[in-house]
Amino acid sequence: MASLARQLLRAAPRASMAAVPRLARANLVTLTRRAAPLAATRATIGSQVRTLKTLDFGGTPETVYERSDYPNEKLQKIFANDTLAVIGYGPQGHGQALNLRDNGLPVIVGVRKDGRSWKKAVDEGWVPGKNLFSIEEACERGTVIMNLLSDAAQSELWPTVKSYLTKGKTLYFSHGFSVVYHEDTKVQVPKDIDVILAAPKGSGFTVRRLFLEGRGINSSYAVWQDVSGQAAERARALGVGIGSGYLYETTFKKEVYSDLVGERGALMGGIYGMFLAQYEVLRARGHSPSEAFNETVEEATQSLYPLIGENGMDWMYANCSTTAQRGALDWYRPFHDACKPVFERLYESVADGSETRRSLDKNSRPDYRESLEKELKEIKEHEMWRAGEAVRSLRPENNKA
Ligand SMILES: NC(=O)c1ccc[n+]([C@@H]2O[C@H](COP(=O)([O-])OP(=O)(O)OC[C@H]3O[C@@H](n4cnc5c(N)ncnc54)[C@H](OP(=O)(O)O)[C@@H]3O)[C@@H](O)[C@H]2O)c1
Repeated sequence: MASLARQLLRAAPRASMAAVPRLARANLVTLTRRAAPLAATRATIGSQVRTLKTLDFGGTPETVYERSDYPNEKLQKIFANDTLAVIGYGPQGHGQALNLRDNGLPVIVGVRKDGRSWKKAVDEGWVPGKNLFSIEEACERGTVIMNLLSDAAQSELWPTVKSYLTKGKTLYFSHGFSVVYHEDTKVQVPKDIDVILAAPKGSGFTVRRLFLEGRGINSSYAVWQDVSGQAAERARALGVGIGSGYLYETTFKKEVYSDLVGERGALMGGIYGMFLAQYEVLRARGHSPSEAFNETVEEATQSLYPLIGENGMDWMYANCSTTAQRGALDWYRPFHDACKPVFERLYESVADGSETRRSLDKNSRPDYRESLEKELKEIKEHEMWRAGEAVRSLRPENNKA
């Protein structure tokens, strides 16, 4: 597999355009154009991008919404009488609030005074008393309360937030967690307000970075409660306002189930489990840490996964050596069969609320930070990741001395 990465990288530029379907090519062109500086993108947004459409997702039609469906003038109109109060300034609060601000929308931030987030918000240009307030004051001033506290804090601070949710206000989340598992979180929303969701499919730092690059994160949107008759429209508009590239519809329940499965499974927990198992076997069979790490993580993240992201799995298989191809085609099924029961168990654990209860319990303990740091330190100090640190330091771009 050592030469595979080089073969793929050499083949990528030429083969990728030929292998990409026509629609995707059109999207690529649009994306490339969207990578123009932000001001230019905004100025030409009406003529440059496409409109609402139903697309074929592998045989199932789905309606998607893009930035072009909510040009800036439309966003300004929709939120003309609103104050968007972003509560919490973790990764999502940071990304979403800054993007809303850069989109010229009336946004304020609410965080606990003198905490880590307060300092970060001040460092990033939010001004105390002008557009940065305590949680209580921001909730009082806001007409759209964008609850971006940590999920545990959403539950802990619910009595406070709820007391400001007067009739006519809108409550917004980026996760279905608090509302769907209300029996555990105690987040029981008032009946006379709209409750909506826009959930970026990535970290808040990516939400910000892609926006600054003139690109956009994919997000889902959903409506839990529509009192105004405008809830879906406002959810989509906010989704665009926070920097989404395209939005697909979901429900609060489907959002939280798929999100919890994804992060525990293929996105984070599952992938580390696979990495670790392979690394351990290679090491036990006498391979050096450098070799085991390169064949397990480095080649994946630096070469193959980006190519899957660009062109799909079939393209990656089609563009590697015949030896690698045969092996991958023969072995993905045993891995699938071994993993599927684990995914079924995981989904059950999400659906019956066990994951939520464990997460709420652990994340609201007073020693949460210390025990988290201990667990992360164990990973950091594992031989595999220490080997990874050495491998990363040898990347030419990190080794300019
Ligand atoms: N991260 C992601 O990848 C992602 C993606 C999509 C959606 N979401 C959702 O977006 C929401 C926010 O996520 P996040 O990752 O940005 O949040 P986070 O880092 O978990 O927490 C963000 C905020 O919660 C505040 N907070 C925590 N405990 C508090 C307490 N007891 N009292 C007052 N404030 C408290 C923190 O303030 P201090 O600094 O003062 O502690 C911080 O401003 C969540 O619903 C999450 O599920 C996250």
